[in-house]
Amino acid sequence: MAAGRALGLGPLLLLSLWGASAPASLLRRLGEHVRRLRDSSSPGPNPGPAAAALPAEGWLQQALDPFNASDGRSFLQRYWVNDRHWASRDGPVFLHLGGEGSLGPGAVMRGHPAALAPAWGALVIGLEHRFYGLSIPAGGLDTAQLRFLSSRHALADVVSARLALSRLLNVSSSSPWVCFGGSYAGSLAAWARLKFPHLIFAAVASSAPVRAVLDFSAYNEVVSRSLTSTAIGGSPECWAAASSAFAEVARRLRAGEAARAALRAELGACASLDRAEDRAELLGALQALVGGAVQYDGQAGAPLSVRRLCGLLQARGNGSRLAPYRGLRQAVQVVLHGLGQKCLSFSRAETVAQLRVTEPQVSSVGDRQWLYQTCTEFGFWDADPWHVLSVTQALGPSVSALLIPSASHCLDMAPERPSDSPNLRLGRQSIFQQLRTWLRVDTRIRAGL
Ligand SMILES: *[C@@H]1O[C@H](CO)[C@@H](O)[C@H](O)[C@H]1NC(C)=O
Ligand SMILES: *[C@@H]1O[C@H](CO)[C@@H](O)[C@H](O)[C@H]1NC(C)=O
Ligand SMILES: *[C@@H]1O[C@H](CO)[C@@H](O)[C@H](O)[C@H]1NC(C)=O
Repeated sequence: MAAGRALGLGPLLLLSLWGASAPASLLRRLGEHVRRLRDSSSPGPNPGPAAAALPAEGWLQQALDPFNASDGRSFLQRYWVNDRHWASRDGPVFLHLGGEGSLGPGAVMRGHPAALAPAWGALVIGLEHRFYGLSIPAGGLDTAQLRFLSSRHALADVVSARLALSRLLNVSSSSPWVCFGGSYAGSLAAWARLKFPHLIFAAVASSAPVRAVLDFSAYNEVVSRSLTSTAIGGSPECWAAASSAFAEVARRLRAGEAARAALRAELGACASLDRAEDRAELLGALQALVGGAVQYDGQAGAPLSVRRLCGLLQARGNGSRLAPYRGLRQAVQVVLHGLGQKCLSFSRAETVAQLRVTEPQVSSVGDRQWLYQTCTEFGFWDADPWHVLSVTQALGPSVSALLIPSASHCLDMAPERPSDSPNLRLGRQSIFQQLRTWLRVDTRIRAGL
């Protein structure tokens, strides 16, 4: 078969990779919130006994340094197995890769890979990324230790996990393994297929930003365009209202101490705006709030959709010039409430202090680790929606690409919902069809036809 079956999906409005500053961490908190809700939500309207039977977690012993044969140190990597659809040991294996955060049993029970499994009698496996969640090597997150954290290490883990789990679970050597992933994990899925075609049969890469850029201002352009998109509740007027709200915040920031104190109270900010660096962070936090509305538009658990944000920004009120600014203030309250936060945090000193903590944090979204990876590998740290970095046009007959109109970041990977748009349904269907074509060809080859 032809090489490179990496399916690069680039939904219209995507992204998920953030830097380390407070605004970025607001985005990461939003991401964590959406993921947690997805993992804990019941798979359907009638959870029944099936929902209670979550798969147990397993632990694989992996080499800490897979590139140095004389280094015998190892760490334990967490994985989950859902074998309830697994029809035979020759069936395909869907390997759901974790990215820059913890993974959970939801990875093998809910979402697109699990939803696709019954059609092929597939085994579903979820693998947590090294250094995130509980798959953290002894020694914690010290900088000396973080040199064992990179996409190259993660790919080596995929290979050894694939070999070890084949043996452990008695998967047939002819079973095709298909990697799935969203965002950074989507990039890993595509790279795993490209680098190890003899082990990974195909990849479905959702919202995968596979191109690295240093100055990623294109993110904001996508956010802007999305605010004008009528398909998701935006309009040119909404975009204009957002601009006007931001201009008002900037005006108040410049207008001296009294105006800043009033702004602080009006926005429900945690601390004073005396420092220039904190004022910059505040603007970034507000930008992340708008970016987050776009990034997680329409996703279960997202506190603010584009439609709702635009509704708030464009509330006519008294026709006042300040109406958009008031709308933005309300949007801040909606997001804080959704995240269970009392006030809007943007202290740079506090953020830096948090990033210095080398003790692993159980519930952590992995800010320190991800900052390290973005700085040493990807250069995404100027915190800016991401399909511009993905592959949205087919690269050949065996590398298909799919752009799902008006779908937010990695939305195709989420569990199906009655509210899903026709485009999203069509998108998932075309992934199904593409897999069917590949897996059918594979079956024919294996049968020697
Ligand atoms: C490989 O591991 C050995 C044993 O821990 C160590 O002495 C050596 O410095 C390592 N080499 C590199 C290139 O890291
Ligand atoms: C693995 O599957 C093969 C074929 O069905 C079977 O003969 C063998 O006993 C199995 N091995 C284990 C350890 O279950
Ligand atoms: C109209 O203006 C008044 C006075 O400024 C204000 O208290 C009220 O909240 C405004 N109404 C709306 C719907 O914004």
